[in-house]
Amino acid sequence: MISPAIAIPPRTPPNTPADASAQRDRAGTALAWSARLWFAVAVGGQLLFAWYVAVLYGGALVQGEPARWNAVMPRGYVAGDTAGNAAIGVHVLVTVVIVIGGALQLLAPLRRLAPSLHRWNGRVYVLLAVVSSLIGLYMVWFRGAVGGLAQHVGISINGVLIVLCAVFAVQHARAGRIALHRRWALRLFLAVSGVWFFRIGLMAWIVANCGPAGFDPVSFEGPFLSFLAFAQYLLPLAVLELYMRAQASARVAARIAMAGAMLVLSLATAAGVAAAAMILWLPHLSRTI
Ligand code: HEM
Repeated sequence: MISPAIAIPPRTPPNTPADASAQRDRAGTALAWSARLWFAVAVGGQLLFAWYVAVLYGGALVQGEPARWNAVMPRGYVAGDTAGNAAIGVHVLVTVVIVIGGALQLLAPLRRLAPSLHRWNGRVYVLLAVVSSLIGLYMVWFRGAVGGLAQHVGISINGVLIVLCAVFAVQHARAGRIALHRRWALRLFLAVSGVWFFRIGLMAWIVANCGPAGFDPVSFEGPFLSFLAFAQYLLPLAVLELYMRAQASARVAARIAMAGAMLVLSLATAAGVAAAAMILWLPHLSRTI
């Protein structure tokens, strides 16, 4: 005879409010870790970009050969234009401080343990991001930059968004509206990262197409580059809005779906960083060092 304990499977306990809340917590933890993974990949890739900037642009300056900037930026150094060259030097070299400062600002343990470092680092980060954006606008509209009108408009809107996000992030922090401050600070981080997204996006695209596609590599113009000039900040900002909605949502499915999307985006970001490192950054580093 079969014992009743084997024959009758135990009844699934009813889905109590406590179970539902535990499921939501687990989904929230998965979402938080997926975001941390993406952030770790992004910070690694941005540090590589900053290292390249320090070695290529800083190295040329230290060695008294700023004309070497033009190996990458055709109108980076113009003989005789001291003020313009200085502005461009500031634009590229503050990238190192911006990248390190941005990563530090978003580290939650550091915010808790050293709030005054968070405040001071935040002031420096915001100031440099705004100054760099204003210089970027000067470069595009007065000094001359590669690319066509659509690209120039796209990157200029990026510059304006950086300034707006910086203003809102600071205003909310000063007023003690921390939840809103966090939202605008995250938007600021992604808007400031636009130039980096452009590079990893373009290099991933080139690798995926086994060469330049959708643009002319000589004039550096074409539909794909026009698209990327806007997508470099609009896509990350759209993903951030979805992430924040999933975080605020009580629906387990929304959190799990977003965590899955963040995993895929982490892989895509790592692929873009690898492509940019191989094609853009490491070759310059190996030539310069
Ligand atoms: C705060 C965010 C920004 C950072 C950290 C940043 C950083 C840089 C760096 C490192 C380069 C050299 C690129 C390389 O060697 O691959 C560069 C180039 C350039 N940036 Fe920015 N940038 C920022 C925002 C902007 C904005 C908002 C604009 C325009 C409104 C802009 C306009 C330019 C231009 C025109 C070039 C030269 C591209 C060329 O013609 O070759 N940047 N930027």
